[in-house]
Amino acid sequence: MTRYSRADALAADAADPLAGRRDAFDLPAGLIYLDGNSLGPLVRASAARVDAVVADQWARGLVTSWNTAGWMDLPLAVGDRIAPLIGAGPGEVAAMDTLTIVLAKAIGAALELRPERSTVLTDAANFHTDLYILEAMARRARRPLRVRALDREDLLGALDESVALVMLTHVDFRTGEMLDLPGLTARAHQAGALMLWDLAHSTGAVPVDLAGADADFAAGCTYKYLNGGPGSPAFLWVAPRLVADVANPLPGWLGHARPFDFESAFTPAPGIRGLVTSTPSILALAALDGALDVFDGVDLAAVRAKSLALTDLFITLVEERLPGALSLVTPRDHARRGSQVAWRHPAAFGIVQALIARGVVGDFRAPDIARFGFAPLYVRFVDVLDAVEHLAAVLEGGEHLDARYATRPAVT
Ligand SMILES: Cc1ncc(COP(=O)(O)O)c(C=O)c1O
Repeated sequence: MTRYSRADALAADAADPLAGRRDAFDLPAGLIYLDGNSLGPLVRASAARVDAVVADQWARGLVTSWNTAGWMDLPLAVGDRIAPLIGAGPGEVAAMDTLTIVLAKAIGAALELRPERSTVLTDAANFHTDLYILEAMARRARRPLRVRALDREDLLGALDESVALVMLTHVDFRTGEMLDLPGLTARAHQAGALMLWDLAHSTGAVPVDLAGADADFAAGCTYKYLNGGPGSPAFLWVAPRLVADVANPLPGWLGHARPFDFESAFTPAPGIRGLVTSTPSILALAALDGALDVFDGVDLAAVRAKSLALTDLFITLVEERLPGALSLVTPRDHARRGSQVAWRHPAAFGIVQALIARGVVGDFRAPDIARFGFAPLYVRFVDVLDAVEHLAAVLEGGEHLDARYATRPAVT
């Protein structure tokens, strides 16, 4: 019998300094949304911003809006709003492309900065796109390069003077394990290697201090905890001490110092602007810009504290209510936990589907992981309590074994 009551949950919500932020989201009534680590919900300001850009800037301003509405500067202007969430400064971040593409740019640029080195290190459990693009960029480098995708515990032992680049994802997409970003960056630097961080599962949920860690490159997506919308632009950061020496592996006219001089030779614009490639996706950037309003004035320490409180509560309640039913794969240690909780169960897919049928949205990652994301700006303590009750009802009633869940759709 759990000792944490509904009154406790409601009291925690009433005392929550972030509670007011939930109203900024257009969440379906009654839904418990624990999948913001996959796709963040709609922020009302985001829809309003897109409507305004369509109606005023596109429909009325037409092509003049490139100048009058600041469209040309939008990748960096939006980047400036992401910067404080990752410990970066103004003018250091560009919002553009998609994450795989900006990772390609960062990898290509980093490999050129260490031309004498022959190895690239990554985590064998890294997100698949990271592994694919790393392999592909290494194959295209101007020298033979060996990509070593190792078990996490073997990474440090493999760091030697042959390593050009270490590429890691800060928070593991499956397990929610958070890596030691400053510590691993320092170890990579000790070996003379560069460090590239994928912040897909961190930005907006876990405070990151890239400058404090003296990191080299970082990239992330914005459709998860930044709520930028399906397929919203990614972001790229390059350390200011490196950016002048970095060459854009995918140069395009919008990264040129003078795009409208139409010069046939590529002269990069200074700073992160030189890493821009193409015409900015204005509607997508407008949606992201509007979504970022919810982070205005937010204390990231409060976000982190609430994230840990929510995930602690979820773990405790599941283990009390359903002892031994699911096995926890997310670290209990706060220092090693991101903002999601993952459980292993042979019928994880059915569990997730049965929960969705009950209005509790998490997701499934093959072969046997049920994942629940806790976005502190809109998830409440009472949601955690209710989600656990639904989970118990699913398992106790065998709802997860329903024949409907024997086949999987394309997106799980
Ligand atoms: C860690 C990580 N890296 C990269 C990606 C893929 O990014 P994109 O599809 O935007 O290229 C994801 C997608 O969820 C991810 O979780």
